[in-house]
Amino acid sequence: MKSHFEFSSNKKSQNKISMLTVYDYSMAKAMDGQVDIFLVGDSVGMVVYGQKDTHKVTMSQMIAHTGAVAKGTIKSEVVADMPKGSYEHPQKALKNATKLIQAGANYVKIENYPQIAQILTNTDIKVFGHVGLTPQSITNFSYQGKTQESAKKIINTALELEKAGCKAIILECIPDKLAKEITSLLKIPTIGIGSGKFCNGQVLVSYDMLGLYPDFKPKFAKQYLDIKKIISATALDYDLEVKNGLFPI
Ligand code: KIV
Repeated sequence: MKSHFEFSSNKKSQNKISMLTVYDYSMAKAMDGQVDIFLVGDSVGMVVYGQKDTHKVTMSQMIAHTGAVAKGTIKSEVVADMPKGSYEHPQKALKNATKLIQAGANYVKIENYPQIAQILTNTDIKVFGHVGLTPQSITNFSYQGKTQESAKKIINTALELEKAGCKAIILECIPDKLAKEITSLLKIPTIGIGSGKFCNGQVLVSYDMLGLYPDFKPKFAKQYLDIKKIISATALDYDLEVKNGLFPI
């Protein structure tokens, strides 16, 4: 098993942490070591299974995808999302987190729930927290923490997750100023998505990076490639070659 990366040393040295979602073996092999962390995100429900949100993702799916990613990974760290409904009760959380670690994850990630994070870290399971726009409990995909009251709630949850022993915290879709404040309050690194440049690292959904997910393009996501166009044109080349007797030769 890999030795665990000390993310807090990244924060001290101000080395930014890069994290991408990965869902399968071949993509893991292609990107292994190119970024610090792979997130086997429950966004798999949307980008791989075509569901409207992450709510129906199951433990069996997360175990299968985590196993596939871990098999293709030597250098990057693997974080597995615990799906909605898999960790709200302590015993269930422990049982399911153990299954994801056994499948090859180095860390599990939960949305909010500091008490559950504490139960997991007490048994040496390494945990990432996630606050702000937490898709498992939110139906309206809009920025969080815009009022003083909700910003305070997010700050408190982040502090409690740190106290519970989390190794890092994802800050999703909160104002830059709030992300900056949380980053300066915490000793552990913050990893932002749609939360500006003041976090200690960034996470991006790989399908957004590659231009592969057709249903929704978040405003903050940077598309580095139009792979959908390349795939579509390549399929057409193949079709033409088959129809014209050019393949097989
Ligand atoms: O599932 C996922 O892709 C995530 C990221 C958006 C942080 O949780």
